[in-house]
Amino acid sequence: MHRAVGSDDGTGVVTAPAKPVIEIEKLNLVFQTPDAPVHALSDVDLTVNAGDFVSFIGPSGCGKTTLMRVIADLETPTGGHISVNGMTPREAREQRAYGYVFQAPALYPWRTVRKNVMLPLEIMGLDKAEQERRARDNLALVNLEGFEKKFPWQLSGGMQQRVSIARALSVEPDLLLMDEPFGALDEITRDHLNEQLLRLWDQTGKTVIFVTHSIPESVFLSSKIVVMSPRPGKIMDVIDCDLPRDRKLDIRETPEFLAIAHRVREGLRAGHSYDD
Ligand SMILES: Nc1ncnc2c1ncn2[C@@H]1O[C@H](COP(=O)(O)OP(=O)(O)OP(=O)(O)O)[C@@H](O)[C@H]1O
Ligand SMILES: [Mg+2]
Repeated sequence: MHRAVGSDDGTGVVTAPAKPVIEIEKLNLVFQTPDAPVHALSDVDLTVNAGDFVSFIGPSGCGKTTLMRVIADLETPTGGHISVNGMTPREAREQRAYGYVFQAPALYPWRTVRKNVMLPLEIMGLDKAEQERRARDNLALVNLEGFEKKFPWQLSGGMQQRVSIARALSVEPDLLLMDEPFGALDEITRDHLNEQLLRLWDQTGKTVIFVTHSIPESVFLSSKIVVMSPRPGKIMDVIDCDLPRDRKLDIRETPEFLAIAHRVREGLRAGHSYDD
């Protein structure tokens, strides 16, 4: 069970204080474009604690990818404050504090599947045997055994996306940023990877930030759900998802699950304008 900060939670169990990994205050990002400025993020406040699984959900264009890119130092905010592991995003990037699964797989076409997964490990200077072990284990985790010697263009879109997930996991980061990693997958594969990811999170205590368009996926995976709305991109609701950490897929039919899903849907509706 995920618990909030504090010493005694009322059950007599003393829990460790929550350690913030990401702290965001009054964050703003305005893109200057030839037509008009785009206010992609407006006064975003958010704290992500160590061991949280936080999902961002919201309609297309509400700033989910932009927020992830700010955390990863791939975009610079125009106002406000953000820290990652107590550092600036730039320092965190230089220390390889996170793994990033992009919305598109971003694989190198001239490298085999195995060599794509090994690339960041080569850059980190790991020895060859360790690189090979991690590539093998993580490709097995995403059900890609036997495809190691193929090139990305010989795989389907969903398989390419699984290679990029294996690549991010193989870095073994404490913080994992995943931008719609399962969007292109069929439902059975997606269910399987949801379970795998949940197990990985539960067993390793990693902090995960995850973008999705799927309400059931967000409730199934998360300890905290951030509902966003567009124009300007802002946070509508932050929902604690207090389901047991070792949840199974059939939890999706329980009243507790459906109640949280309902609240997410309400938040999405409140932020959605049908006028434009
Ligand atoms: N480099 C850029 N230059 C100008 N505008 C941008 C840029 N990147 C994003 N935007 C705009 O910022 C807004 C937020 O975009 P973002 O990609 O963060 O949305 P998203 O929530 O990830 O959407 P989706 O669900 O479609 O991936 C959009 O209006 C988009 O057009
Ligand atoms: Mg996006």
